Amino acid sequence: MNVLLVGGGGREHALAWALARSGRVEALAVAPGNPGIAEIARCVAVGVGDVDGLVAAAVGLPADLVVIGPEGPLVAGLADRLRALGIGVFGPSAAAAQLEGSKGFLKDLCARHGIPTAAYRRFTDADEASAYVSAHGAPVVVKVDGLAAGKGVVVAMTEAEALAAVDDALRGGRFGEAGRSLVIEDFLRGPEMSFFALSDGETARFFATAMDYKRVGDGGVGPNTGGMGAITPHPLETPALVEEIMATMIRPTVDAMRAEGKPFQGVLYAGVMLTSAGPMLLEYNVRFGDPECQALMLCLADDLADVIGDATGAGSRERRPPAMREGSVVCVVLTAPGYPDAPETGDLIGGLDEAHAEGVEVFHAGTRRDESGSLRSAGGRVLNVVARGATLEEARRRAYAGVGRIAWARAQYRRDVGAWVSP
Ligand code: AMP
Ligand code: GLY
Repeated sequence: MNVLLVGGGGREHALAWALARSGRVEALAVAPGNPGIAEIARCVAVGVGDVDGLVAAAVGLPADLVVIGPEGPLVAGLADRLRALGIGVFGPSAAAAQLEGSKGFLKDLCARHGIPTAAYRRFTDADEASAYVSAHGAPVVVKVDGLAAGKGVVVAMTEAEALAAVDDALRGGRFGEAGRSLVIEDFLRGPEMSFFALSDGETARFFATAMDYKRVGDGGVGPNTGGMGAITPHPLETPALVEEIMATMIRPTVDAMRAEGKPFQGVLYAGVMLTSAGPMLLEYNVRFGDPECQALMLCLADDLADVIGDATGAGSRERRPPAMREGSVVCVVLTAPGYPDAPETGDLIGGLDEAHAEGVEVFHAGTRRDESGSLRSAGGRVLNVVARGATLEEARRRAYAGVGRIAWARAQYRRDVGAWVSP
């Protein structure tokens, strides 16, 4: 079949790598792709914000299946447009993407269906929100309702921080439309787990767990980022915990979305906190995590096109979880200096072939080719070095050996991915 993959980051390079190995994929095009993807697929110069252009690209191929990597085009309704044309899609409708696109929608759904999550209130009025924060006290968590590129959550350890977050969003308009409505919720404690499940709209299947290293610095210090590394499986994964999360969160969500006329098709990524009172849902994403996906793809033993086909609603309705390889995978993210606040780009990068040793893959996240064809950094997160091993320790050793072969003196990365396993 002809596949169009939408996106151009490390997640999409990993998805392209897995799709290129599929026995079912004859032609793979990626919009817009990146220099790493260009080595294994055809890149189409259409950005992820150009929904009309993406629809035209899918029709032009013509694509049998469109795999949508990032949340933006999902929330903007790309999957609806494609389905209306009879094109197979991996990814939810705009209505179902509200699970990620509106924190208030998600919290209300949890409340209606008894899905465990932090107690919360919703606000659009600044005075009411400030009064609630003052009455509640700290710690407390302030979340803007809409998509905010990972910057919309403030875990406030003091009342002043929480009040400032309310001010920023509701009085300052810092997040525009996305921040006109807030969720303010109770602070929870515990290790975090990224939990991935697949759904065809009716049934849900477990896929995998992972751990995401969110803070910029070793030991979990410094500002939050899009993700500095990931490991899979999560060290705290057990069959009992997987079943508990499927039973208390994933299945009730899939059932509720179907019952409310917004069936969820695609990958449901739950951010879960393992509290002393049991697993609690922090958020849903309606797509693969980045960089969790890069680790997951190296662990996947099944053909990704089969796995995805079963979640488009048109597949073989396979109910078992995808087969995963034994052992662990570690993904280390190499970022530009200054990331996440002010990344400095344009550095020459080499050594990728040397890093590509047995069991090590290098995925491009933010790179470009200059006029002479040399590779240069072109974003905050630049490269992902991913390795599998029989044990977490072996995967970690291989991944960092790969990092050591990359010729880029100014690269910044965490040294403790896979070693330091607390949040
Ligand atoms: P979210 O985008 O909702 O996952 O929030 C981003 C990060 O904020 C999470 O990964 C957690 O580390 C933290 N966080 C979110 N909600 C809470 C909460 N209720 N209590 C403590 N930390 C939270
Ligand atoms: N790694 C976090 C995310 O993809 O949202």
